[in-house]
Amino acid sequence: MPHRDMRDYLAVLEQHGKLKRVAKEVDRLWEPAALAKWMFQALPEADRFGLLFERVAGSDMALATGALGASSETVALALGCEPAAINATVVAALAHPVAPREVERGVCQEVVVAGDRVRLSDLPIPVWTPGKDVGPYITTIVVTRDAVTRHQNMGVYRTQVLDDRRVAINLAPGRQGFRCAKTWLDQGKPAPIAWVIAAEPAVHLATVANLKYGHDEIELAGGLKGAPIELVKAKTVDLMVPAHAEIIIEGEVLPGETAPEGPFGEFAGYMGPVAPKPVARITAITHRTKPIFYGYTSQMPPSESTTIQSLVNAGLLLKTLHDLGETSVSDVYIDLTFGGLLAHVVLAMTPRVPGHGKRIGRLVCDLTPLKRVTVVDDDVDIRDPVHLEWALNSRFDPARDTEIIRDVFVPMYMDPSVRVADGRSDPGSKLVLDATQKIDSGSFSLPPRDVMMKALALWREVGLPEFAIPKRARLRIERS
Ligand SMILES: Cc1cc2nc3c(=O)[nH]c(=O)nc-3n(C[C@H](O)[C@H](O)[C@H](O)COP(=O)(O)O)c2cc1C
Repeated sequence: MPHRDMRDYLAVLEQHGKLKRVAKEVDRLWEPAALAKWMFQALPEADRFGLLFERVAGSDMALATGALGASSETVALALGCEPAAINATVVAALAHPVAPREVERGVCQEVVVAGDRVRLSDLPIPVWTPGKDVGPYITTIVVTRDAVTRHQNMGVYRTQVLDDRRVAINLAPGRQGFRCAKTWLDQGKPAPIAWVIAAEPAVHLATVANLKYGHDEIELAGGLKGAPIELVKAKTVDLMVPAHAEIIIEGEVLPGETAPEGPFGEFAGYMGPVAPKPVARITAITHRTKPIFYGYTSQMPPSESTTIQSLVNAGLLLKTLHDLGETSVSDVYIDLTFGGLLAHVVLAMTPRVPGHGKRIGRLVCDLTPLKRVTVVDDDVDIRDPVHLEWALNSRFDPARDTEIIRDVFVPMYMDPSVRVADGRSDPGSKLVLDATQKIDSGSFSLPPRDVMMKALALWREVGLPEFAIPKRARLRIERS
């Protein structure tokens, strides 16, 4: 069954031992984020969990973080599939998007606080890099609308709280939220904007897919949920918002108004520079009774942000390659530590012609903001670092199989390796490593399959400890 809302999902997570509650009252200015940092910095991926802070000083709302993107396992639970089926689930949802359904009423509007009564400080908005960030930040889904085409867009753009009714939004040029806002601001009109906090998981995961402009992520969310996402009219702005969300913040981006934004700890692991960013005035906060606030943990990777962006955009890349006729690619894995942007992507494929591996690598460089592309044969488990190293050590010749693509400008301004001090950047580059096998190296140096299977029976007979056969071993034995 798809999760109806965030509460359903948190309950499932807890049943699986993947949600930990903190009952002690916490100070949102440092404690929740600092604990989440330990979770992501110290625990191996398989052991990570979401955090639910039940009591936050100064607010009567609970606060959750890490619950969606603690690990591949939590993302799989959010999608209702096994971790190994995440790509297939995303690909199927992209192939079968489901349009949203408009409803008259939504729980997200059980309580409406508008106008002068709005106080962002009533919400438990954390400081995410305590001691370094300028202040509290909203890190969640942002909804905007194109004034001309009227299509809506969802993206996550960090939002700095300036005071109780004003925020500065990291709406970077080129990002679709920026393009939507510009269609209003260019006419001298305020741009409608809404922050969606703790909607059903499908909405959160769809939001980070880098879809083309004009494609509303809400239809992908419907595909992921397997049912239309219910949307309700926002109370004070011209937008439709997820009816089952815990909290909606409504506002308008003001023409010609900017404020210095930052410093803020960025996803790449360094403090981001201060720069002028668009300012929005908050017009309303609507919420469920006793709502749960949600903020993504980002900043130093690995993080929730890098985990969800990598996993969702791997499925999107696989589907895009298939749509382009590159069905020789069977699997895609984006490393979970850099967020689907500037990261390392590994593709498994069956090359059809000499040079096919490199061609796929170059194509991926063109299609995506990923920085390093490794291509291997599909007898390699691309999620297994040991197997990947073996492929690179045994099937890759640096002089023959490397391609460097120079002078790439976009979006390298996000890349700390080429960004210069004032926030501009030098041109960046990309790397393709084609580690597909080009010459026949002969048979694997493992006993044949029948001998290995007899040995497995012997292993059990003599009482050696049980183990799960890794995919790496299975793939090798199949070819032995
Ligand atoms: C926690 C988190 C914070 C993010 N912050 C930003 C941000 O401040 N600016 C930005 O351009 N992208 C940010 N992103 C990435 C975008 O939200 C993501 O790439 C999204 O697909 C962009 O949507 P768009 O293509 O519709 O603009 C963030 C992602 C996450 C998960």
